[in-house]
Amino acid sequence: MILVPGGRGQLGHDLAALSADVHAASSAELDVTAVTADDVRGYSAVINCAAYTAVDAAETDEDRAFAVNAVGPGLLARACATAGTPLIHVSTDYVFPGDGTRPYEPTDDVGPKSAYGRTKLEGERRVLEEGGWVVRTSWVYGANGSNFVKTMAALESSRPSVSVVDDQRGAPTWSHDLAAGLLELAAVLPSTRLLHAAGGGETTWFGLAQAVFEELGADPARVTPCTTADFPRPAPRPAYSVLSGAAWVAAGLRPLPHWRSALTAAFRAGVVAPRA
Ligand SMILES: NC(=O)c1ccc[n+]([C@@H]2O[C@H](COP(=O)([O-])OP(=O)(O)OC[C@H]3O[C@@H](n4cnc5c(N)ncnc54)[C@H](OP(=O)(O)O)[C@@H]3O)[C@@H](O)[C@H]2O)c1
Repeated sequence: MILVPGGRGQLGHDLAALSADVHAASSAELDVTAVTADDVRGYSAVINCAAYTAVDAAETDEDRAFAVNAVGPGLLARACATAGTPLIHVSTDYVFPGDGTRPYEPTDDVGPKSAYGRTKLEGERRVLEEGGWVVRTSWVYGANGSNFVKTMAALESSRPSVSVVDDQRGAPTWSHDLAAGLLELAAVLPSTRLLHAAGGGETTWFGLAQAVFEELGADPARVTPCTTADFPRPAPRPAYSVLSGAAWVAAGLRPLPHWRSALTAAFRAGVVAPRA
């Protein structure tokens, strides 16, 4: 049985949906900031999906973000090391500065620009120090939770047009595909401890929004491009945060599907509830 802290979030939900061998724990059942070895003992692995994911709120709430994204993973890693339970921890493209020109390798220099990114990076460091595995991903969407894909689908039905930033590049990742990859990783436990797993290919938020409209049978020309400067946010967004899956494949793991075909599969699976 695999324990999934943060099991009621977007990714945790899909892990539980994929395997009967997953125990998805709510934050009330298992608070990672107070975890002990007894909580993780006897499980075949732990896949940590618990996180403070409110990127903008973290700018003014870094202490809380640090507790969940850095202290919690550190405690979990120590608990797992004590209990002899392998730990897989999920991290983010936000650990990179976001000014790359080719997909980031796990070994590339980090340099987070946001409070969220800083706290996630410290979580990574603490997990790796205790011998755990860290998997960075990007632009996650799934059926359970709020995300860009669902937001665009809602806007399609309520607005004649929508303006979306076209100067941030990344790779959308369906949480179902990532969950399958993490389960594969838990079975293989390769010697490489720091890996990237995201949807194949790359696009911009504008490109993703157009693809959502296509999936809905709506005219993608109703999505218009704009720039990051048009939509100032409290936390800076990486301009380029495509993650290379080369190390993942080299570790003997199957690459995640291309983001565009994954989006089609996600719509077929009902990632966005059909309109009444
Ligand atoms: N979403 C993305 O676009 C994205 C991109 C890159 C990386 N990631 C990473 O992917 C992982 C999964 O993200 P997600 O999208 O599934 O996030 P999510 O939907 O926000 O889920 C996070 C879960 O963590 C739980 N949690 C918060 N504090 C906790 C604590 N102290 N103890 C235990 N559980 C706690 C939350 O429960 P409550 O609601 O009860 O607090 C929530 O269910 C995270 O590590 C995230 O950093 C996400």
